[in-house]
Amino acid sequence: MNILLLGCGGQVGWELQRALAPLGWVTACDFDTPGELKADFSQPDSLRALMARVQPRLVVNAAAHTAVDKAESEPDLARAINATAPGVLAEEAARSGALLVHYSTDYVFDGSGDQPRAEDAATGPLSVYGRTKLEGEDLIRGSGCSHLIFRTSWVYAARGGNFAKTMLRLAAERDALNVIDDQIGAPTGAELLADVSAHAALRTLAQPALAGTYHCAAGGQTSWHGYARFVIEHARAAGVALKVAPGAVKPIPTSAYPTPAQRPLNSRLATNKLQQSFGLSLPDWQAGVRRMLTEHLGR
Ligand SMILES: NC(=O)c1ccc[n+]([C@@H]2O[C@H](COP(=O)([O-])OP(=O)(O)OC[C@H]3O[C@@H](n4cnc5c(N)ncnc54)[C@H](OP(=O)(O)O)[C@@H]3O)[C@@H](O)[C@H]2O)c1
Repeated sequence: MNILLLGCGGQVGWELQRALAPLGWVTACDFDTPGELKADFSQPDSLRALMARVQPRLVVNAAAHTAVDKAESEPDLARAINATAPGVLAEEAARSGALLVHYSTDYVFDGSGDQPRAEDAATGPLSVYGRTKLEGEDLIRGSGCSHLIFRTSWVYAARGGNFAKTMLRLAAERDALNVIDDQIGAPTGAELLADVSAHAALRTLAQPALAGTYHCAAGGQTSWHGYARFVIEHARAAGVALKVAPGAVKPIPTSAYPTPAQRPLNSRLATNKLQQSFGLSLPDWQAGVRRMLTEHLGR
């Protein structure tokens, strides 16, 4: 099976290179891939030639404009990458009969309330990023192609920088830390997303009725403050020298940390549909974070 993977150098794309490998022949592309396999989402129509060249049975799109604050000042670029380009992939997939796997976000919701949202809950994005991601979803659903859209939240990966590594660095440098405690969600590993994607894609190729929109996030919930405390306590227990005192990781409200883009307070996603449809169970967020920290700290 020919598989086209886009955004292969990102957090999720990197893990997809591993998870998709046993499924077939993977052509992995990114913005900076040289030559004919360059996939530039700021030029959406250029993706048609790439689709024609690779002739994939499965297209997995992990490329996105994920700089949430920056998107506020470059909405046209964010729209091209997050909406128009996935729409072109979907049109081409509809034409060729390929299955398109795509990722979206809890930022399509307004973050009100304190309950996990199901896939059919009303959307209401608060930011350019959220609006353009929702437009991308709508273009895919409207194209008639067979698709899996996975909305996820608070993605981290072992490779590259992430929130946990930033907290560890700051905890080694400072006596006290202030971390937001009124945004609630589930840190979700790129590894988990990639493994679920490979499993679900294979099942959907065999059983097309499984296609649709799903919420995919690790189990449980926490705040950024709870997440930071977990990371710092794990590191301390592993014998890492930290300057920050226990109890000096202070909770602050979102209002004390203004950013260009407004973020939803409630990022909880209900994942029952995914678990039941594909016979999967999603581990609690702590399991993946613990694993990532063990790799990062080497102990
Ligand atoms: N990160 C999160 O917390 C989060 C939360 C919810 C949902 N999601 C969704 O999950 C998916 C994967 O996110 P991620 O965390 O893996 O993102 P990421 O690490 O930022 O990776 C995004 C990828 O998109 C590529 N890209 C950026 N601009 C491009 C362009 N003009 N043309 C082609 N490729 C371009 C990047 O390439 P370069 O590295 O070369 O720029 C990178 O490979 C996205 O759909 C995202 O919206 C992420």
